[in-house]
Amino acid sequence: MIVTTSTLFKHAYGKYACGAYNINNAEQIMGLFRGNIDAKAPFIIQISKGARAYTDKRLMEAMIRAADQIFPDAIFAVHLDHGDEQTCYECIDSGFYSSVMIDASHETFDENIAITRRVADRAHAKGISVEAELGMLGGVEEHVVVDEANACLTNPSEAQEFVKRSGCDSLACAIGTSHGAYKFSGSQGLHFDVIEEIARLLPGFPMVMHGSSSVPKDEVDRINGAGGKLKGAAGVKEDQISMASKMGVTKVNIDTDGRLVWCRVHRESFRDNPDNFDLRPPGKVFMAEYAKYIVHKSQVLGSAGQLEDLRQAIKNGTLKTQKLAVA
Ligand code: G3H
Ligand code: 13P
Ligand code: ZN
Repeated sequence: MIVTTSTLFKHAYGKYACGAYNINNAEQIMGLFRGNIDAKAPFIIQISKGARAYTDKRLMEAMIRAADQIFPDAIFAVHLDHGDEQTCYECIDSGFYSSVMIDASHETFDENIAITRRVADRAHAKGISVEAELGMLGGVEEHVVVDEANACLTNPSEAQEFVKRSGCDSLACAIGTSHGAYKFSGSQGLHFDVIEEIARLLPGFPMVMHGSSSVPKDEVDRINGAGGKLKGAAGVKEDQISMASKMGVTKVNIDTDGRLVWCRVHRESFRDNPDNFDLRPPGKVFMAEYAKYIVHKSQVLGSAGQLEDLRQAIKNGTLKTQKLAVA
């Protein structure tokens, strides 16, 4: 069942976070649904601009609709990841998306607000919610390169003003993470002081953590053992993700970890079966391994085991009556 992203956030806030997983193909979709059903976890499936262009956006949407039928017990939202203004409008008008992200974090504060406000007005008219971004994550985003040392964390009082003026429904905050497999060169981690202060100034308002892959060491070692060259890859520690998930970080974005599972499975498969040229044997292993990863991650996020309580809350209408602190 596809639900609004705000329904998921209302149920989760302060208790757990929803995993928001990027998908590009049928195998990722099958593994994602299987894993969340096994974990009894609600989740967010997110599609980037790159994913919409990889095969065809219509194919992505059709596969997600099909997965909804194949797994009738699943409760999830569909989200546009890192959209520009035009792509946000396309997704809003398509009627398929639960929420969109307008990523204007590279613009000035006022311009970011103005763009987000336009998107929010158009989205809200259709009951769709909007994620915006303030501050800059380290690492590489599609349009901008910021090096880790200069990554600019979200300023909590600016976040408060931004949310009020822009009308966004959730905020991607720069709290120490970055995209990709090389997040930290030392013992850096999440800036809990920033999370705490934003939660204090914006009580009940959902924060989003991008760049949340944990880049498991075992996964990296296996990839390197099968011919890969991922030296020095490192991600967010899972105990820190668990802590943030109870502090108002309600959406945790994960893409890289799924790519690592894909890479490990295929590298090992071709190493161990040099005579195989059929895509289905490694594809099957990938779906099962990705589902296992999702089960584990749902436990880290605290979303595991929440599915039936959420279903009941939706049925009783109790989530509708809860208001977010910031209108
Ligand atoms: O944050 C970006 C996501 O990892 C999506 O990556 O733009 O390569 O699909 P992509
Ligand atoms: P990772 O690269 O850490 O998986 O982050 C993904 C992300 O933030 C997608 O928006
Ligand atoms: Zn991101």
